[in-house]
Amino acid sequence: MGSKKHDLIVIGAGPGGYIAAIRAAQLGLDVAVVEKESALGGTCLRIGCIPSKALLESSERFWAAKNEFASHGVKFTGVKLDLRAMLKRKDQIVASLTRGVEGLFKKNMITRYAGHGRLAGENRVTLQSKSNGNATLEAKAILIATGSTPAPLKGVELDGDFIGTSTEALSYSKVPTHLVVIGAGYIGLEMGSVWSRLGARVTVLESLDRILPGMDAEIAAEAKKCLESQGIEFRLSSKVNAARRAGKVCKVDVEGAKPLTCDRVLLAAGRAPNTNDLGLEAVGIELDKKGFIPVKEGFATSAHGIHAIGDVVGGAMLAHKAEEEGVAFAEHLVNGHGHVNYDAIPGVVYTHPEIASVGRTEDDLRQAKIEYRKGSFPFRANGRALAMGSTEGKVKVLADAQTDRILGVHIIGPRAGDLIAEAAAAINFGASAEDLARTCHAHPTLAEALREAAFAVSGKPLNL
Ligand code: NAI
Repeated sequence: MGSKKHDLIVIGAGPGGYIAAIRAAQLGLDVAVVEKESALGGTCLRIGCIPSKALLESSERFWAAKNEFASHGVKFTGVKLDLRAMLKRKDQIVASLTRGVEGLFKKNMITRYAGHGRLAGENRVTLQSKSNGNATLEAKAILIATGSTPAPLKGVELDGDFIGTSTEALSYSKVPTHLVVIGAGYIGLEMGSVWSRLGARVTVLESLDRILPGMDAEIAAEAKKCLESQGIEFRLSSKVNAARRAGKVCKVDVEGAKPLTCDRVLLAAGRAPNTNDLGLEAVGIELDKKGFIPVKEGFATSAHGIHAIGDVVGGAMLAHKAEEEGVAFAEHLVNGHGHVNYDAIPGVVYTHPEIASVGRTEDDLRQAKIEYRKGSFPFRANGRALAMGSTEGKVKVLADAQTDRILGVHIIGPRAGDLIAEAAAAINFGASAEDLARTCHAHPTLAEALREAAFAVSGKPLNL
């Protein structure tokens, strides 16, 4: 392979990198993407968001068939789990989506290089490919979008099987008898829910005195209650110091408590940016204290022509945040401007009920000494939620006490992950709670609960 020249080389084909590549190609650049995995789409499509959502959907149906259908007057006996079929369906969804990204690359005439990319200078990337040896690629601009991997935890001896990360938890060949989850964050709650619904005893160990740090505390406390009622056991203020295999079982050491014995351990204590073996030293890029790549306007690093987006630059480690940055980066590169509104990035935990949030939390606002008004509305007073049989949870709208501008929306309830999009749009457009309340919402829909919570900001919900 000789030296190849492009306008832009993107290292990493996850949601940040592949979206940046597509947007840049749409804007007229000759774009190449270097990706070391055979499937495109990064962690999100291959071993993250998509396969976990496939299993969440399937396991929820299994659980509902056993526990909920009878209340709708649908009765049958002998509900059985076919785990192989469930896992196969998940793999097929992943294959179809990753092939979809290949198709998008072709459509946008993006060149794909298979192999490991390493910075070799301000305009050069060395491509190390198993099949074709080494090659040098050149470009006017380079984008690092290498994402993140599960953060290791000292003392936890990952064996790629019984003591593993979310990657292993997406493919257990049988339902664990007792799964111990380390960390009550996004991954711990989602994967804990999957295996609990399929019949495992699930214990979640969390070092803090609450679950879902960073999310609104009141909503997180309600989420804990809902998940406990489904059978998930939480042990808060329980710091894990070690986990190891001992014959046929796993032992988990918790500070100040008796060790736990289980058959599977899932480590879900955060993710760390992928900056190893990238050649950062060759171009003089230094990491910040937390190991992220510092960036300035237009996602420029300290090295001329080299940019970075997504999990590798820090902030919310979410696929859609990386996508936003990918679009803004490409537009800034080509047109000289591109923007991400970091106040309007939603976060969703796809448990049942779902938990979704955008903007500031109450803790946040109190700390910043911003006066706010709060309006809540419970799903038990929403007609559609009643019809669905999904009445747990509520919507909470926080608005500036003086201006009524919406500062944050926090939801626990059915389809919260879809409902939060309206709140994100409202915050993005600088809407007031009154604007939301005066927007006609179709009846009967779950979205009416958001409207009612907006009404409640000024003390006047209609249906409560
Ligand atoms: P997380 O940061 O959400 O939660 C990790 C939890 O582990 C925290 O509550 C932390 O206090 C706890 N912890 C840390 N050390 C511990 C110890 N020694 N013992 C007990 N608990 C300990 O991290 P998670 O769940 O691994 O997710 C990683 C990233 O992936 C997150 O940033 C998240 O945004 C993203 N993600 C997003 C999803 C979504 O959007 N639905 C789904 C899955 C992951």
